[in-house]
Amino acid sequence: MKITRHKSSSHPAPSRELAELRVRLAEADETLRAIRSGEVDAVVVAGKQGPQVFTLQGAEHAYRVLIESMNEGALTLMADKTILYANQCFARMVKCPLEQVTGSSFHRFLSAADRATLRPLLKRAGKSGSKIQVLLNAGDGSKMPAQISIRPLAKDGFNRATIGMVVTDMTEARRNEEMLRALTHRVVQVQEAERGRVAIELHDGITQLLCAILFRSQALVTSLAARDGPAKGEAMKLRELAGKTAEEVERISHNLRPSVLDQLGLVAALRATTTEFADRTGVAVKLACAKLNARLPADTELTLYRILQEALRNVEKHARARHVTVSLRQRAFVQLAINDDGIGFDPDHHAARRKGKGGLGLLSMRERATYVGGAFKIKSVRGAGTEIEVLIPLPPSATAAN
Ligand SMILES: Nc1ncnc2c1ncn2[C@@H]1O[C@H](COP(=O)(O)OP(=O)(O)OP(=O)(O)O)[C@@H](O)[C@H]1O
Ligand SMILES: [Mg+2]
Repeated sequence: MKITRHKSSSHPAPSRELAELRVRLAEADETLRAIRSGEVDAVVVAGKQGPQVFTLQGAEHAYRVLIESMNEGALTLMADKTILYANQCFARMVKCPLEQVTGSSFHRFLSAADRATLRPLLKRAGKSGSKIQVLLNAGDGSKMPAQISIRPLAKDGFNRATIGMVVTDMTEARRNEEMLRALTHRVVQVQEAERGRVAIELHDGITQLLCAILFRSQALVTSLAARDGPAKGEAMKLRELAGKTAEEVERISHNLRPSVLDQLGLVAALRATTTEFADRTGVAVKLACAKLNARLPADTELTLYRILQEALRNVEKHARARHVTVSLRQRAFVQLAINDDGIGFDPDHHAARRKGKGGLGLLSMRERATYVGGAFKIKSVRGAGTEIEVLIPLPPSATAAN
């Protein structure tokens, strides 16, 4: 914005100071030229009560052209939510003629729930800006997902704060989110099916073969006499190695297809997983499990089990933790929390950076929780460990015994 200063002529110049008057005339000429050519948006005139700012109509016109050409709705509201000004884009969004939008209440475009969410924000908007997601009710009865950014504006002539709003159409963004969710869900489904297939192949194929090798090496150890010392030693090592390999394959197959979950239930499966993790990695794990009154729905149990596995995989891979706490609680919902005292990370930074090249672990945990109607939270601070928490509501039948 260009502002020019213009000296007030409230003090008459003495006639003898003709030269000074000439200079002032030249200045005034220059000011007029600048105003006419559109170089100036406002004039500051020094008066008795100090400098006064006069905004020029031409400047406002330029901003109006800019706002009308925006691809977002722009509005100014009075404190009682009456629309003082709306651009054409907003009128198109709510499918109402502009003349019916201006002067009406902004509330007519919101549901009761969105009005309630907006109310405290509008009050606070006097201090700082904020954003909310709403569903706009259009004039033809359709609904449009939108983001409203609220900004305080200068106080108006009646000394009441006016509010500036920018309304962004989120239809496309929501569609993309939906597509991403559907895709992630498909990935999780395919992953689960693939894990089952690999587990069966491992069990039916490799484990059977390894058992045969174990059996034969045992037979070899038995058939070799004491005089075949070195050969017998090698045969014993072979038998031991075959045994360890069979155990490792069994462990992998177990993790891939949680048969312990099917047979013994969630608590036993969580216990088996944490014990195996602690034994293998040396990280101390404390497990605090509430006694469940009944089996939880199968997809809830599988979700919790997979989230624990994925979280422990992350602890092992990234956290450098010394202690892990796993807790399971049940009320009207089931809550699983996994805490580690490792190096932590910045979840927001990770989400922003991911853009298709990051890992799938956190994404699939979130998707699994969302799919069963649950909520998934990550709390992590660099240097201060990580907490993964998942809350899944339970059907009344699962909580009745509480
Ligand atoms: N417990 C943790 N401690 C420290 N950093 C973590 C922890 N969990 C996740 N992270 C960080 O978050 C990132 C994303 O984790 P995510 O599980 O999504 O992917 P990944 O483990 O890298 O790959 P994938 O899970 O697909 O094998 C990790 O690369 C790591 O930087
Ligand atoms: Mg991971």
